[in-house]
Amino acid sequence: MLIRNRQSWQIPESQATPESVFMDRRGFLGAGAGLIAGAALPQIAAAQGADPTLDLYPAKKNESFTLDRPVTDEKLAANYNNFYEFGTSKDVVAAASKMATRPWNVQIDGMVEKPFEIGVDELIRKMPLEERLYRFRCVEAWSMAVPWTGFPLKALVELAKPLSSAKYVKMETFLNPRVAPGQLQRWYPWPYTEGLTIAEATNEMTLMVTGIYGKPIANQFGAPLRLITPWKYGFKSVKSITRISFVAERPKTFWEALQAQEYGFWANVNPEVAHPRWSQATEQVLGTRDRRPTLIWNGYGEQVAGLYKGLEGERLFV
Ligand code: MTE
Repeated sequence: MLIRNRQSWQIPESQATPESVFMDRRGFLGAGAGLIAGAALPQIAAAQGADPTLDLYPAKKNESFTLDRPVTDEKLAANYNNFYEFGTSKDVVAAASKMATRPWNVQIDGMVEKPFEIGVDELIRKMPLEERLYRFRCVEAWSMAVPWTGFPLKALVELAKPLSSAKYVKMETFLNPRVAPGQLQRWYPWPYTEGLTIAEATNEMTLMVTGIYGKPIANQFGAPLRLITPWKYGFKSVKSITRISFVAERPKTFWEALQAQEYGFWANVNPEVAHPRWSQATEQVLGTRDRRPTLIWNGYGEQVAGLYKGLEGERLFV
């Protein structure tokens, strides 16, 4: 992605988060949101026990989601990750293992009937877990196909009871540089933030993921709770979520804040719209020598293209 091949000091001034903005953000967090999110901050892992939701796996497979390619080898997928909080290489397993994923609270706030905080285990047990096979297309032009376990974000939206004035769902990863050394790199606009329209969030494809390969999700994949929107580039699928806010304005997302020309809000997969620095026409399938043609909407047009009717003027594919 943007910064991966650069050393920190090579970031052009125009791409860096201004110090004042960063300090404001921290000041804000310290003064208010930080206190709310305080209970949700992950601690450094001390020998964690078995996952408290282990009994829920493997979840029943939803047979309506089928693949046109083999499932990616688990070892491969589990050792090739993007999780900038733990470094810019694909090898983040050891660094991410230092994140304690229990206790873990999720804050639900903004334009909802009543804001609340919920423990992730209580949340998972309230939700209809199922397994789905999805293609996953990274903006870097590699892809994989994996069995995710999770629940439709729609079910969580219903639990949250948003007001009609809420137009977007904003999701944030934890902010704790003691756990995630990448967050000491202050030119990134931490915390990692993503967002969807309410219509996208409640689409049947949009999954809140708690497990993968029939087990609770491992840290490097974004434990204990991450998003998956398989028709969008992978950077939309924010990991290790601690806060979900219902808002009226389109949130400024992490990559958009860094480099809006290359990474926009919508980020829908389209082979015909090149990234400014590379083609999106094909993708390298992890674990094979195959370069496959990329499919528009990553092959999920039937389920999602209708979401974008009337939005043709938007930069839907960046
Ligand atoms: N979420 C957070 N918090 N931090 C990240 O660096 N990287 C994104 C996305 N979610 C990222 C994140 C990108 S660029 C991709 S491609 C996917 O996570 C990678 O998911 P995976 O490691 O499970 O394959």
